[in-house]
Amino acid sequence: MRCSLFVCLIVGAVFNYGAGVDPSNFKTCEQSSFCRRSRKVQSSGSKYALIRGTLNTYTDSVTADLINKENHHQFTLKLEALVGSTFRLQIDEKQPLRPRYRVEHALKGKPETTRIRVEESDELTITVGKSKAVIHGDPFRIDFYEDDVHVVSVNAKNWLYFEHLRQKAQAPAEQAEGGDQAHQQQDQQDNSDMVQPASEPIDDPGAWEENFKSHHDSKPYGPEAVALDFSFPAAEMLFGIPEHADAFQLKSTSGTEPYRLYNLDVFEYIVDSKMALYGSVPVLYAHGPQRTAGVYWQNSAESWVDIYTTESNVVSSLVNFVSGSRKSTPPLAHFISESGIVDAFIMLGPKPMDVFKQYAALTGTHELPQLFALAYHQSRWNYNDERDVTSVSAKFDEYNMPMDTMWLDIEYTDGKRYFTWDKFKFPEPLTMIKNLTELGRHLVVIIDPHIKRDNAYFFHQDCTENGYYVKTREGNDYEGWCWPGSASYPDFFNPVVRDYYASQYSLSKFKTVSKDVMIWNDMNEPSVFNGPEVTAPKDLVHYGNWEHRDVHNLYGHMHLMGTFAGLKQRDPQQRPFILTRAHFAGSQRYAAIWTGDNFADWAHLQHSIKMCLTEAVAGFSFCGADIGGFFGNPDNELLERWYQTAAFLPFFRAHAHIDTKRREPWLFPERTRHVIKNALLKRYSYLPLWYTSFYELEQTGAPVIRPLLAHYPVDKEAFAIDNQLLVQQRLLVRPVMQQGVSKVDVYFPAIDDKKNGDYWYDADTYQRQERVGYESIPVTDDKIPVFQRGGSIVPKKERQRRSSTLMLNDPYTLVICLDRQGKAAGTLFIDDEKSYAYRTGESIYVSYEFANNQLTNRFIGKPHFKSDAWIERIVIAGLGYAPIDATITANGITQKLEIEQRSNGAIVVRKPAVKMNVDFALKLNAA
Ligand code: NOJ
Repeated sequence: MRCSLFVCLIVGAVFNYGAGVDPSNFKTCEQSSFCRRSRKVQSSGSKYALIRGTLNTYTDSVTADLINKENHHQFTLKLEALVGSTFRLQIDEKQPLRPRYRVEHALKGKPETTRIRVEESDELTITVGKSKAVIHGDPFRIDFYEDDVHVVSVNAKNWLYFEHLRQKAQAPAEQAEGGDQAHQQQDQQDNSDMVQPASEPIDDPGAWEENFKSHHDSKPYGPEAVALDFSFPAAEMLFGIPEHADAFQLKSTSGTEPYRLYNLDVFEYIVDSKMALYGSVPVLYAHGPQRTAGVYWQNSAESWVDIYTTESNVVSSLVNFVSGSRKSTPPLAHFISESGIVDAFIMLGPKPMDVFKQYAALTGTHELPQLFALAYHQSRWNYNDERDVTSVSAKFDEYNMPMDTMWLDIEYTDGKRYFTWDKFKFPEPLTMIKNLTELGRHLVVIIDPHIKRDNAYFFHQDCTENGYYVKTREGNDYEGWCWPGSASYPDFFNPVVRDYYASQYSLSKFKTVSKDVMIWNDMNEPSVFNGPEVTAPKDLVHYGNWEHRDVHNLYGHMHLMGTFAGLKQRDPQQRPFILTRAHFAGSQRYAAIWTGDNFADWAHLQHSIKMCLTEAVAGFSFCGADIGGFFGNPDNELLERWYQTAAFLPFFRAHAHIDTKRREPWLFPERTRHVIKNALLKRYSYLPLWYTSFYELEQTGAPVIRPLLAHYPVDKEAFAIDNQLLVQQRLLVRPVMQQGVSKVDVYFPAIDDKKNGDYWYDADTYQRQERVGYESIPVTDDKIPVFQRGGSIVPKKERQRRSSTLMLNDPYTLVICLDRQGKAAGTLFIDDEKSYAYRTGESIYVSYEFANNQLTNRFIGKPHFKSDAWIERIVIAGLGYAPIDATITANGITQKLEIEQRSNGAIVVRKPAVKMNVDFALKLNAA
């Protein structure tokens, strides 16, 4: 680790480098007072009831008061119907001592509500189309139905737990001194005209202050947790709530730790763990063969989620078989948050893709990235100087390997002062950038949120003078330790600070970059080396007088908002690219993510797929993992397999720790170079598919990479599979993620409960798989199993270039794999790959269809973009006969085309040479 002596001492105390994370540096639920209190309710239950006579009905919602029958504290409840089979449930205190935090900025806008029908009997039934919510008064509970199938229950277990704000019972000594702390007095003034609830002591030593290791949390507002249970009667498994280095299917937490959601910089994180990581996305899905539903728990405070499922095993299957029942208890999730309110969105599906889209309708999607961002990125901590950058770029050319983007980590700066350069190592950054840009390449530089406390640093001066930093309880600028040594943290919750920050990206201020340089926002959990659990203390104070406790998981998100605004202002024509480590629900609107500081071992490679699948269904399709592993040195085989795997994850970047050996591809033996080069070329050949998928993500919310259950929802064997992924519904990828294997088991899923399946064609050989279930597929060092679904058409570009930017006008190949009916369909999106012009119609969006031996195209919207690209070849697999030639009709002219035979009966129609914006029909002619 390279750092100043002081930072090294601090970092060394927190991180035991090389040994993996020390979990004792992070809290368990039992060590976190709100978690242990809220979890206790699981044994005793709680007693909440609706207060009769308080019901109000509006066109799109109902409100009522709720009472805790034990302490008589009152709450308000609002249940709102949203467009798209979604309900929003909010519960807050009726008269809180001070307002409780409500998450802002996570939703993409105000959700659109819809008209409801209300029937009142013993229960209250709220109907919207096929969706229904039935509210039971005492005990309070809500059951949600879709098509009359009961899919979600809220508070079925009576685990609703809402700690109302209260006065601290004064210790005798404090009374004698004349009262409590300044905060308490101020709150009383704020609410002097309110009815104060009786002080009710909470029997927990951590309720009013808490210590962890050497850190003290002053907790001026005392206990304020919220918790609620959700059960899913129509489901068999749960997934979601990233970010954890764990399986796709959530495991039961009974008797162990809950999953934790608290953005943290976990050094050398371990796998198969429910520990918190850098991002927190509190959306959870429940899936069964007939129904999928979801819950988005909108709360930005530290949260824990207990999961109760009967994971399928032989014993439970036998019990179910003998008893004739499916299982006695439906899967259940218990969300627990430290503060805030209950704000839950219940999404009723009914199919997996419906729920993913319902979630995307709430929190948004990544906008179409520039094409280069989907190509290959070359990073390490650090490329040392201008010569290093230039020579690495040149080496890619020398070895004929495509590469789009070079990255600079923190060492490029002048002493970790962001928006500056180290003038010795990088004397002419603009020339270096120009040299890259001229090759069609890009540069990404890191900008972290910690600001060096150096009085000569303009950023620090501005923040200090204007009061832009996050404050301590006493009102001083908070000081922590991070890469620059002593640092402070801009309060991005303040819109003025975000504006200031955004303006720093303008080329008139950050003069040493060009408008093509994009940004990496790291350490934005925020990471504080000497802070509690390596982050900011919870009693810091943000804009609006909110405690850091309330907003912690949103800090990175607010940082991103500033960066995104900055890049848009810098160049309104160009789509920004930002990579972030911390993230919350909705951050996908601004940035791509990666899975942080992984390790060069096979387990971390396997987890790259599991983690990105979970992120993708939680809105973050644009996800990847450091190729090769951040820590440690991969051997040749691991590195080869890592490139092959990563080539099928959306964000495709090699990155490594400063202490690792250099690992640019040419530093490896020829065979490894060859394998890596093929993985790169494969990625580049599929760029039109990735690009189209991202366009469709933006349009519809459909994730780019998907778990099998997304399209095979009835196949129970597929539910938990997380070593395979789908790219849209077109490719099935089963990377090789074990050492020394010559074959792997690939699961071909069933489309119905009669075990019918799709046809799958090997993407290299076109050999067809027709069976459902596991098949052993041979692999070589140069091959991983990738199959194209029968019934799909995949657009590709197969000419080799040094970067994707140079491929703009390259011709397309269409790969058509036929289904059992001899049909196939697929889309392609084309534009300038860079600007927002597509939003005003400057694009071509085309659907290709193959049926009755004929390929036709149909434009979706007008094909307005002027593209010089054309269709170079059409591959058709699964025809079952050998046509002699083909005829194409375009622009009123009909021409004959030659046909070439390929392996396994596939044919190639050569040079249709039709432009991308022209209507055509291509017919195969039998002998
Ligand atoms: C932590 C990031 O996770 C890592 O990717 C980066 O190289 C270091 N910070 C240094 O900036």
